[in-house]
Amino acid sequence: MLLAVAGVSTDTGHTSTQGSGTWAGPHNDNAIVDWAWRALHMSVVTGKEVVKQYYGQAQDTSLKEVQTFPEDFDGVIVGSPANWQTHLQDWSIHMNLNVQPSNSTRFINASVWENVIHPEVLRQCDAIDGLADGIISDPRFCDFRPEMLTCRPGQDASTCLTLDQIAAVQRIYSDYVVGDQQWIFGSYYPGGEEKYGSGLVSSKPFSIGEDWFRYFVLNDTKWTIEDYNSSVIPIADHIKPMAIEKNLTSFMGPGHNGKLLQYVGWADQLISPGNSLHYYESVHAWTNANTNMDIDDFYRLFTVPGMNHCDGGYGANAFGAVQQASGGMPPLSLDPEHNILAAMVQWVENGVAPANLTAVYWNNNNVTDGIGFTRPLCQYPKTLRYKGGNNVTADSFTCV
Ligand SMILES: *[C@@H]1O[C@H](CO)[C@@H](O)[C@H](O)[C@H]1NC(C)=O
Ligand SMILES: *[C@@H]1O[C@H](CO)[C@@H](O)[C@H](O)[C@H]1NC(C)=O
Ligand SMILES: *[C@@H]1O[C@H](CO)[C@@H](O)[C@H](O)[C@H]1NC(C)=O
Ligand SMILES: *[C@@H]1O[C@H](CO)[C@@H](O)[C@H](O)[C@H]1NC(C)=O
Ligand SMILES: *[C@@H]1O[C@H](CO)[C@@H](O)[C@H](O)[C@H]1NC(C)=O
Ligand SMILES: *[C@@H]1O[C@H](CO)[C@@H](O)[C@H](O)[C@H]1NC(C)=O
Ligand SMILES: *[C@@H]1O[C@H](CO)[C@@H](O)[C@H](O)[C@H]1NC(C)=O
Ligand SMILES: *[C@@H]1O[C@H](CO)[C@@H](O)[C@H](O)[C@H]1NC(C)=O
Repeated sequence: MLLAVAGVSTDTGHTSTQGSGTWAGPHNDNAIVDWAWRALHMSVVTGKEVVKQYYGQAQDTSLKEVQTFPEDFDGVIVGSPANWQTHLQDWSIHMNLNVQPSNSTRFINASVWENVIHPEVLRQCDAIDGLADGIISDPRFCDFRPEMLTCRPGQDASTCLTLDQIAAVQRIYSDYVVGDQQWIFGSYYPGGEEKYGSGLVSSKPFSIGEDWFRYFVLNDTKWTIEDYNSSVIPIADHIKPMAIEKNLTSFMGPGHNGKLLQYVGWADQLISPGNSLHYYESVHAWTNANTNMDIDDFYRLFTVPGMNHCDGGYGANAFGAVQQASGGMPPLSLDPEHNILAAMVQWVENGVAPANLTAVYWNNNNVTDGIGFTRPLCQYPKTLRYKGGNNVTADSFTCV
């Protein structure tokens, strides 16, 4: 198979430093629309025209595009998408407030996350998949109990948790719900502790979340995260630069026959994996209720044990997705079993859908250090189980 790849990129209509939202306003409505969807769509339209002129024919072969411009792509691969901006920003601030201020008894530093909480997560949950290999394969089955780490009188505080810290961990590992159990966003999952101390629950108040509410939502440049309360959620929902449409019939239906592959690392420190599960489940439920189609025929989600946001982490995390190879972590091979881009091409062109993928962990997340181990990536909602045999090769595991 010869695959010609053309790429387009866009600044989404503004220039800014990472982590700043001041460009959005107050009241810079055109810039917000460019960022939300217009810039990407226009880039795709322009890019297709360039490909057509360059190759003399149209090319034969992200979520907002699928929902709003279903004709733009035949196949789309998305990794842990930030598709529900309004709730993502709420969640980020909620997560950060769980440990703020950093001089309080609830604050948890990176060292305690990594050296105290992570080992206890492994002690309680590592063997659930049948193998104690230092990898939490599926945190859905890990009912982590941080109270096992409660400080005893006189115990060194760097080896245990205060009651306030235990309560914070319990909130951090719970979905964000308000009022009458209204679901706002997912949670952190047990297993990613090596990154949580530098992620959303670190000592610094979360600046992009603050800018989001200052410049997009409330138009109040003096607002700070200490002013946060759940009354801002419906105000943010009203702004709606988000991609949560459940009806994908124009993309997946017989008229277009589009394919969507999504992946998410269980140890994502930036966007709760629960967001990917929630979107998949919402499309699944809608599709079952309103169509005769099987979600498996157009949308598949793969979960990646121990992977951080889109790459990195301590599990097998290289399978050809964006950011991986550029970070020194190419897939083991370019075939559809190991490379998600080839899996997509095979699905779109030959109708062969991936049932699972095989990812590799390069030692130290660096290809020059050699293969550490390989593992299957299971199609959600399946889970990984150790069958027996060599613990470093994917064929000793199965998806059930
Ligand atoms: C803030 O400004 C934006 C853009 O002009 C507008 O959509 C939004 O409704 C405003 N928010 C409030 C709380 O007035
Ligand atoms: C935490 O720091 C703030 C600001 O520096 C200070 O006002 C507050 O008294 C401190 N709280 C504690 C418990 O030390
Ligand atoms: C495999 O087992 C060996 C021996 O018990 C152990 O040292 C190694 O860490 C294990 N590797 C993985 C990836 O499970
Ligand atoms: C981390 O916090 C603990 C208390 O929870 C403290 O004993 C320890 O000294 C801190 N470590 C660092 C590196 O700041
Ligand atoms: C909640 O936040 C909004 C927006 O900052 C503010 O107007 C309101 O007074 C706050 N409500 C409470 C109960 O603090
Ligand atoms: C789903 O979307 C399609 C295309 O926009 C529309 O024709 C159809 O009526 C929608 N279905 C429902 C049940 O809303
Ligand atoms: C990978 O390891 C090699 C050799 O140790 C080193 O030169 C290179 O910078 C590393 N690559 C990355 C992306 O860290
Ligand atoms: C992956 O899918 C293929 C094809 O359905 C199947 O033969 C294989 O057993 C699956 N691997 C795992 C680990 O489940």
